[in-house]
Amino acid sequence: MEWSPSSVGAIRVMGLMSGTSFDGIDGAIAQVDESSGEIAVQCLAAHTYAYAPELRQRLLSLAEGCPHSLAEIADLDDGVAITFGQAARQLIQESGIVPDWLASHGQTVYHRPPGNQRFGYSVQLGRGAVLAQVAQVPTISNFRRGDLEVGGQGAPLVPLVDALLFAEPTEHRVCQNIGGISNLTYIPNSPRREGGYVLGFDNGPGNMLIDLAVQHFFQQPYDRDGAIARSGTAAPELIQAWLRQPFFCQAPPKSTGREAFGAHYFGERLAECQQRGLPPADVVATLTQFTVAAIADSYKQFLPHYPDRVLVSGGGSQNPTLMASLTTMLAPAHVASTDTLGVNPQFKEAIAFAVLGYLRLRQRCGNLPAVTGARRAALLGEIHYPLLPV
Ligand SMILES: Nc1ncnc2c1ncn2[C@@H]1O[C@H](COP(=O)(O)OP(=O)(O)O)[C@@H](O)[C@H]1O
Ligand SMILES: [Mg+2]
Repeated sequence: MEWSPSSVGAIRVMGLMSGTSFDGIDGAIAQVDESSGEIAVQCLAAHTYAYAPELRQRLLSLAEGCPHSLAEIADLDDGVAITFGQAARQLIQESGIVPDWLASHGQTVYHRPPGNQRFGYSVQLGRGAVLAQVAQVPTISNFRRGDLEVGGQGAPLVPLVDALLFAEPTEHRVCQNIGGISNLTYIPNSPRREGGYVLGFDNGPGNMLIDLAVQHFFQQPYDRDGAIARSGTAAPELIQAWLRQPFFCQAPPKSTGREAFGAHYFGERLAECQQRGLPPADVVATLTQFTVAAIADSYKQFLPHYPDRVLVSGGGSQNPTLMASLTTMLAPAHVASTDTLGVNPQFKEAIAFAVLGYLRLRQRCGNLPAVTGARRAALLGEIHYPLLPV
């Protein structure tokens, strides 16, 4: 038997998310209340829990396409589920709040957009049955599958939630997330809040190339506060050449991942930088500027109306060099973090999955066909209950 709402009161859903950066699991307990007729969301508690280094390395190697046996993949699937479950338990303990549900994105290790007459394929590890069992909380997981099975990209899934949370009748807005990959939601100033004209797609690389460069040259996980990029000089001719690559010219719907912009792609761009004799800081500056330029270019090519305001979320919002460059390149749009509207930028995606979980419980579709390219709207997420003790 599926969950049925016994009252119209608020429910508490913990969203759990780990993106293509593999930096850690973001957990956010959101209170979702629709008693006024509109969905209102309040984040009650949130925290990021790092992966154990060994698990992270194994996941990265799988996501980079290194061969693995099915037995190893099964181990990793359960390893991620247990780690997510432990993160959930820790957040429950630290906050003193027990959510009614978990809504877990899981960890993407493979993503193939649809094409050539076949459905897309996307693999998120951390199966819901194990997660529900470890956390002892009913769990909704595997959100992308519902969209892929009706012909969609399976991504991005956050746009419907962005439209619910950030629509504003007086301005055209973009919610720009900069994780390992960057993706946007375009919300026109239309009063229609649930979809209609909302757009969304992956812009291309987010922090992924910057992280790879900093790990390669400086043995640090990322360019903390953009300090390295700030000390270097970007090479504009390389950026212009890179932007001619097909992904950036391809019209939405489109989605991408580590398969396209991971270690292999980085190796090729690094070789071009080194042919020109760029010192390490200039490589980091060039990749930072490239990330921004790909975002700005996509607005000019694909948005029906230039945005008045851009609300940035994800780890990229913590990089002041990247943010300053984004502010310059996106002018006259006003660029700010989602913080300015009371949403912590590091947990926006986890909160969005909590809301997608809520929509699943209410039997409402979570994808926007205009965004993912799906033939129709679909219910997203599979439901798992913890087993009763024997
Ligand atoms: N203080 C900071 N300075 C610069 N970059 C940061 C900072 N904090 C986070 N980041 C960047 O954000 C990334 C993580 O972003 P996140 O939104 O969690 O991505 P994902 O969704 O792919 O996990 C890090 O890998 C790093 O590149
Ligand atoms: Mg992350």
